[in-house]
Amino acid sequence: MNISFENKVALVTGAGAGLGLATANAFAEAGASVVLADVDEAAVGRAADALIAKRFKALAVRCDVSDDAQVEAMVARTVATFGRLDAAYNNAGIQNVLADTAEATREDFDRVVGVDLRGVWSCMRFELKQMLAQESGTIVNCSSIGGIVGGAGRGSYHAAKHGVIGLTTSAALEVAAKGIRVNAICPGLIDTPMSDRMKAAGQTEALAAMLNDVPIGRVGRADEIADAVLWLSSSASSLVVGHALVVDGGYTIR
Ligand SMILES: NC(=O)c1ccc[n+]([C@@H]2O[C@H](COP(=O)([O-])OP(=O)(O)OC[C@H]3O[C@@H](n4cnc5c(N)ncnc54)[C@H](O)[C@@H]3O)[C@@H](O)[C@H]2O)c1
Repeated sequence: MNISFENKVALVTGAGAGLGLATANAFAEAGASVVLADVDEAAVGRAADALIAKRFKALAVRCDVSDDAQVEAMVARTVATFGRLDAAYNNAGIQNVLADTAEATREDFDRVVGVDLRGVWSCMRFELKQMLAQESGTIVNCSSIGGIVGGAGRGSYHAAKHGVIGLTTSAALEVAAKGIRVNAICPGLIDTPMSDRMKAAGQTEALAAMLNDVPIGRVGRADEIADAVLWLSSSASSLVVGHALVVDGGYTIR
């Protein structure tokens, strides 16, 4: 994608795999210094090493986004290492254990909401403190088509992803006049380790049925989400504020 992030600093959570990894790589290729954060320290270390080997500027940070202290430390290390924070992609997320609401457990609800919703809230708290001090920056929060429609057996995930849009629009209103833009992205079905795990957990038929409802007739690629995140993070989208950008091959317009 022909957008430059030269002299910019990008932070991506969940950067060890899937959409986060593809987006961190895209930021680096566009010239940004990139902080790759993930609860999987080995994965994010390998990803940063691969970028550094190509002479990109990258730093791996172990961070569980459901832990406020770790999130605060992640943002502090970003600023200590690269001096500022221009673009944050709050991408880390997990799926719920498939269960109808009557059968779902409180433990799984808290686990999913703790990462997918409170994790995004926590990241924004600390990122915005830095961006407000700079009087500039962009944030893209990862929602999902699960933030737009319902999903039987997926209540906690869809609740969290709907909530991400509420956090996004609210924070966007707070900081729009202060040089900071906050938006969300809503990916459709994308080929990543997360979708591989859903297949391994016996959800192949459900995924095939979902694919039948994708008008372009295929799953998305991680680089197609990375392109959209880079656009939302760049000055090319300077008038886009508090928007939830659906990137799903047409799934939700049927
Ligand atoms: N793949 C899809 O079809 C799809 C569709 C819509 C939305 N999403 C969302 O996109 C985001 C990325 O999904 P993906 O498919 O790349 O997933 P993935 O499982 O392939 O990768 C997620 C990464 O996040 C990390 N992670 C998990 N919990 C974490 C935590 N608590 N703190 C920090 N890092 C953590 C994992 O270690 C992993 O490296 C998620 O928020 C997901 O809900 C994915």
